[in-house]
Amino acid sequence: MDSGGKQVTLPLLLAVGTAVIGSLQFGYNTGVINAPQQIIEAFYNETWFDRYETQITKTNLITLWSISVSMFSVGGIFGSFSVGLFVNRFGRKNSMFMANVLAFISAALMGFSKLAASWEMLMVGRFVIGLYSGLSTGFVPMYVGEVSPTSLRGALGTLHQLGIVTGILIAQVFGMESLLGNADLWPLLLSFTFIPAVVQCIMLPFCPESPRFLLINRNEEAKAKTVLKKLRGTTDVGADMQEMKEESRQMMREKKVTIPELFRSPVYRQPMFIAIMLQLSQQLSGINAIFYYSTRIFKKAGVSQPVYATIGAGVVNTAFTVVSLFVVERAGRRSLHMLGLVGMAASAVLMTIALALLEKLKWMSYLSIVAIFGFVAFFEIGPGPIPWFIVAELFSQGPRPSAMAVAGFCNWTANFIVGMGFQYVEEICGPYVFVIFTILLLFFFVFTYFKVPETKGRTFDEISAGFRQSGAAGAEKHPEELNSLGADSPL
Ligand code: GLC
Repeated sequence: MDSGGKQVTLPLLLAVGTAVIGSLQFGYNTGVINAPQQIIEAFYNETWFDRYETQITKTNLITLWSISVSMFSVGGIFGSFSVGLFVNRFGRKNSMFMANVLAFISAALMGFSKLAASWEMLMVGRFVIGLYSGLSTGFVPMYVGEVSPTSLRGALGTLHQLGIVTGILIAQVFGMESLLGNADLWPLLLSFTFIPAVVQCIMLPFCPESPRFLLINRNEEAKAKTVLKKLRGTTDVGADMQEMKEESRQMMREKKVTIPELFRSPVYRQPMFIAIMLQLSQQLSGINAIFYYSTRIFKKAGVSQPVYATIGAGVVNTAFTVVSLFVVERAGRRSLHMLGLVGMAASAVLMTIALALLEKLKWMSYLSIVAIFGFVAFFEIGPGPIPWFIVAELFSQGPRPSAMAVAGFCNWTANFIVGMGFQYVEEICGPYVFVIFTILLLFFFVFTYFKVPETKGRTFDEISAGFRQSGAAGAEKHPEELNSLGADSPL
């Protein structure tokens, strides 16, 4: 079904651009603790000494730092799970607006933690901004998916990821010692998260509410139509309205879908399983081992300027997200995801070789840079952006909020496991730590090959109709049928 052509209008860009400030926040707080790790650890050490009059042990320091890093994802778990409480009650736009309170609270907690000689404040601040980020990972893809025309949904959906990677890069640059990553200014570095919050609060009032929310959840047809006309830049929005009404009719039939129902109903079980596995493939790829700890990894790999190598990884990360933006509507989600996973596995093998041979061959430190850049580049080709927006595509309006909550929960839980566990596992496995990720990556590659359908160029309704058919035909026996959804997607 045609859904309004390929018009990228100013109101559409404003809406998407404002929403993805939430993604930028998520990225900023993912990347911000990477470069100044040692400097903040020194503050922990001093504070420990003042409190207990002894030096902190290595294990305690690893624990305190791992908790500081991963409280962010604990917040993310709770935040992403709460998405459904907000979006239908307050609407997509107001939900995004309200969440900014969390960013302000967190900025204050982290900004004053040094003054108060309290690592607890820093940890709680990380938790609170994690809540915000968890909510964002539901709000943003949902809103962007709902305001975009079908033909641009993948490209605009990738802007969520672009917001995240830009945030990471900004944080890495600000984290340089000569800027804010030093003993005096690191509290400012952490509290800078209030700036995007201010900008988003100013811009959101100029953005429209999601037309799908207006029509399907609120039954406000006239308003939905006005918004659509603005977003599409044309008065001819018949096809879009038609498609939304079809989804609405469908939703009337299926009623509201709760989280337990997602798992009970054979119609939803299959897409839910796929959505969860895609989220796990994103996080258990090990990507955040890089974005939380690359400075330390590069240092261990003998790189002389680890912070610059970290920034290099951020640049590659951003560049390849842009590449994905341009190819995702052409190549399709499924093929890009598989390409990304295999490329990451190969890079992880290279990384292992580099770390293992470092003692004997000094130049292996260069290979480690190449390997990590490759790892990150392949991540952004598929496993980075695709899982975030494909969940909105796999479900219709009824089950979408619950499905996004579950998907977000799984993503953040896996994020937590990597953030919290990496330093310990690295202590045990030494140079072989990336072998674990290689195995996981290959497993997810095989899963994607057999189970994940193509969603490119299909309306939400067509996609869920595909699952309904196969759900009715018998819950378990249909990978080929589902993959035939993607028959129109040659690479
Ligand atoms: C994805 C992940 C996030 C990661 C980022 C790296 O958005 O969800 O955890 O830090 O990609 O670019």
